[in-house]
Amino acid sequence: MKREKRVYPSILSADFTKLGQDCRELQEMGCTHLHVDVMDGQFVPPISFGEPVIKSLRKAVDQFFDVHYMGLHPEYRIESMAESGADSLTIHAETCVHLDRVLQAIKDAGMEAGVALNPSTPLQVLDYVMDRLDQVLIMTVNPGYGGQSYLPAMTSKIRELREKLDASGHQNVAIQVDGGIYAHNAHIVLDAGADRLVAGSGIFGGDKRENYEAFEKVLAGYR
Ligand code: DX5
Ligand code: ZN
Repeated sequence: MKREKRVYPSILSADFTKLGQDCRELQEMGCTHLHVDVMDGQFVPPISFGEPVIKSLRKAVDQFFDVHYMGLHPEYRIESMAESGADSLTIHAETCVHLDRVLQAIKDAGMEAGVALNPSTPLQVLDYVMDRLDQVLIMTVNPGYGGQSYLPAMTSKIRELREKLDASGHQNVAIQVDGGIYAHNAHIVLDAGADRLVAGSGIFGGDKRENYEAFEKVLAGYR
């Protein structure tokens, strides 16, 4: 089911010297989806990693790669992301002059398509592209860094988005949330209507098995 409630470990918070091993361990725990943060050093200050790393990781695990591209010119990344093994590509509305065209190109390349919104970006930018979307990513921190605190103002944004999607016949579009999400505060975003919870520190900070199981326990109450 498209809007199944699940946690997406964000590999940005993983130890890159044992990335394949850590992801395999998550896979063995039953974790089927990974969140893959690509940063370009322009739209956000840091540079994380890109297609060559994704391509290597693709050989190590079978999980769904949910790529979150925090960078300018997403149109340059579509083909190379598809080739490197991305299953889904989420781009930022703030970087996109031709949002509709880019989303169409992502779908044509065989990937799922998502739009991410910075905390200050209004939901209205989605109004005429909803038919193209598999997910909307509501940034619950400002993008660029792991380990930041959840922005409480995003709770009503999630709720308003769910209402907007449902009212316009887009019940199948999933809401993903990203930033400052832990098992202990996950109920806030789930109650507001989020489906897909990205967690970097919330999984890789400490014992990832314990953290993953804590998320699963919370999510079970919403499935
Ligand atoms: C931030 C990234 C996030 C990040 C989340 O810009 O998009 O995916 O890894 O990290 P936490 O869960 O630690 O806030
Ligand atoms: Zn992300």
